[in-house]
Amino acid sequence: MEITKDIRYAGVNDHEIDLFEGQYKVENGMAYNSYVIMDEKTAVMDTVDASFYEEWMQNIKQILGSRTPDYLVVQHMEPDHSANISAFLEAFPDTVIVSSAPAFNIMKQFFGTDYADRRQIVKEGDTLSLGIHTLQFIGAPMVHWPEVIVTYDQQDKVLFSADGFGKFGALDVEEDWACEARRYYFGIVGKFGMQVQNLLKKAAALDIQAICPLHGPVLKENLGYYVNLYQTWSSYGVESEGIMIAYTSVYGNTKAAAQLLADRLTEKGCPKVVVADLAREDMAECMEDAFRYGKLVLATTTYNTDMFPYMREFIHELIGHNYQNRTVALMENGSWAPLAAKAMRAKLETCKDITFAEHTVQIRSALNEDSIAQIEALAEELCS
Ligand code: FEO
Repeated sequence: MEITKDIRYAGVNDHEIDLFEGQYKVENGMAYNSYVIMDEKTAVMDTVDASFYEEWMQNIKQILGSRTPDYLVVQHMEPDHSANISAFLEAFPDTVIVSSAPAFNIMKQFFGTDYADRRQIVKEGDTLSLGIHTLQFIGAPMVHWPEVIVTYDQQDKVLFSADGFGKFGALDVEEDWACEARRYYFGIVGKFGMQVQNLLKKAAALDIQAICPLHGPVLKENLGYYVNLYQTWSSYGVESEGIMIAYTSVYGNTKAAAQLLADRLTEKGCPKVVVADLAREDMAECMEDAFRYGKLVLATTTYNTDMFPYMREFIHELIGHNYQNRTVALMENGSWAPLAAKAMRAKLETCKDITFAEHTVQIRSALNEDSIAQIEALAEELCS
């Protein structure tokens, strides 16, 4: 695949993977992207997952023809991109490896060597001339690991963005970009909003005609759409008007309460109501929705004087990913000593800029006139 006249795609699609990074379900597989820049000198941009060495090397050799790679640029040391560094450098003994100083430290941990005899260390603002193409390196620490650099090709105005602007899903499957890019973003990079904002500021100073990420499609058109979404996500802004109701339920009574609230919100004209059963739905999908909408309702059973385990895990994940700047409402169920709302509130009070709804719903075992009235009041408050 030709990205520009001199930049070719050399990546692979993975349809064998069960869990990406050991935790994310990827029903449509995963793409590990790699690129080759052909100029007076040639550069390979990153490697791919260990399972795809042969296929990737075939792609590289096909693009290079009779030539050999002068440079291997390593932007990120997570093994989905870096696993084949050692094998690649063995296959091409004259190739110089180009990366950040912290990346070489991590390389030593993975491969037992930091390639001191054949490396070029680069930092923010450094450039590498390939002939017509000059590569400009930009620091992007914590997007998604501390050693990350991204690379701007000044000639073709292409930004190689490492994990930034990536998504789940192989490239031979058609699917909506935003849905799987959002789930990827909040799962993998979401905690590092400030660092993503820093990178966006640096990128704003560049004339970018195409974005080449390490996962997902190359972005060539309507770049403002993708950049605006990244602005919203990384600043923890509200992307869509709507309310997410996330619940756990043991015998269906808390579920009935969550559903009743959803029905009341819809009747009152709330633009979008999403209901999620935390015990059964994909946690990354639930996280994505919590960050997408401005209001979140948490409904759970009291369990061991705390909240039900799936709710505890969900809130733990929210806090771990820097959840903030949202309105949160609480619904608890308890047959003898309801304590879940207090427990949930205590956890979420540690987050920045959380506004708690005035009405907290308490269900005693099952819905009754009193708890239904509380749900009505909460629906009214959330819709106002
Ligand atoms: Fe795709 Fe952070 O590696």
